[in-house]
This record gives sequence, C-alpha cells and structure tokens, in this order.
Amino acid sequence: QFPSVNDYLRHHIRTVPDWPAPGVQFRDITPLLQNPKVFRVLIDAFVHRYMDRRPDVVAGLDARGFILGAVVAYELNVGFVPIRKKGKLPFTTVEETYELEYGSATVELHTDAVRAGDRVLLIDDLIATGGTMMAGKKLLEKLGAVVIEGAAIVDLPELGGSARLRASGLPLFTLVDYA
Ligand code: PRP
Ligand code: ADE
Repeated sequence: QFPSVNDYLRHHIRTVPDWPAPGVQFRDITPLLQNPKVFRVLIDAFVHRYMDRRPDVVAGLDARGFILGAVVAYELNVGFVPIRKKGKLPFTTVEETYELEYGSATVELHTDAVRAGDRVLLIDDLIATGGTMMAGKKLLEKLGAVVIEGAAIVDLPELGGSARLRASGLPLFTLVDYA
C-alpha cells in the first residue's frame, strides 16, 4: 500500500492546524508511537542507519527527543543523555538560549554527560527553525564532544532550519519532509 517506509510514517503523522498558535501547522507524532507496528518501523529506521557506525552516546532533546533517543540508544547498546529545558537538571550544567518557531527557550546539559572526543548522535522528533538542535549541538561541543549527525523524524524545510544546520557542518538524517 505504501511505496516507502517514509510514506508509511508520513501517513501516521497527524497535522493539527493553528496549534499551539494561529498559523502553526503542528505535526503530531503521537500516532506513530501509539501503533506498535509503526513505532517499530520508526525505531528500526534509525537503528539501521547507525548500527554500522555506532555513536559513543545518544543525546535526546527535551521532550519528544527523549522518547526516540532512549529507545535508539538502548537498541544500539550505547548510553543516553538528556538535553533538558532549563531548571530540570540537578548537577552542574552548561546552557544555551535559542529562538523557537513560537517563543524562546534555554536548554541545559550536565557537564559530565559526555567526554571530550565522544562521538554523539543528537536526536529530536522534528526540525523547524533548527534552533533546538543547534543549541544541543553547541552544548555538546562546549564539552568537547563531536556531533556525528542530527536525526529527526520530521523536517520542515520551509523554515530553513535543516539548511542552516547543514550549513553549520552538521549532517542530518530525517525521515519525513513537509515542503
Ligand atoms: C519542538 C520539537 C523540537 C523543536 C523544534 O519542541 O519537539 O524540539 O520544537 O523546533 P526548532 O527547530 O524551531 O527549534 P518544543 O520546544 O515544542 O518542546 P516539547 O518537545 O517539550 O513539546
Ligand atoms: N515544533 C516546532 N514547530 C513544530 C511544528 N510545526 N509541529 C510540531 N512540533 C513543532
């Protein structure tokens, strides 16, 4: 029925117009997670991409990046570290402030989350303006880690985030584009 894995996944993403603000087409990935067959296809797409060049660590972006990142890390048999919204991590942190499609935010990472030279896979559910993933990359680089790739389910290329991230030298792997 579906010509590709990408079309299969796209079919299970729900678009909610004007949420959380007028003009935003919200790409809701919860239906992907809810269906066990689709969830497995989704995770396997990431695992296959990285199983032959495993990172040392998977870093997930708060909050939807935690859902994917933790499962992918587990399957790759590497550790998982959370990059969290400000005020949630208890130990010493590095932090970075950035602009969102709707608002601004600060994210933090524990200073002992990665070691200098670690090869890190950075995961989120979606790239819009790219601000979140760029902030995550900067945090990891502040600690001397190397981000080998940024991975997400959805790219919204019209917002220019993926182009900016690639221009900054970050390779990206995404499964579904909304032009
Ligand atoms: C969403 C999404 C990404 C980010 C993408 O998270 O999950 O993390 O926005 O936007 P950007 O490319 O413009 O930075 P959000 O901040 O809504 O937080 P949530 O995961 O806690 O819902
Ligand atoms: N995060 C930022 N923009 C988004 C969108 N359009 N849909 C889902 N998550 C988002």
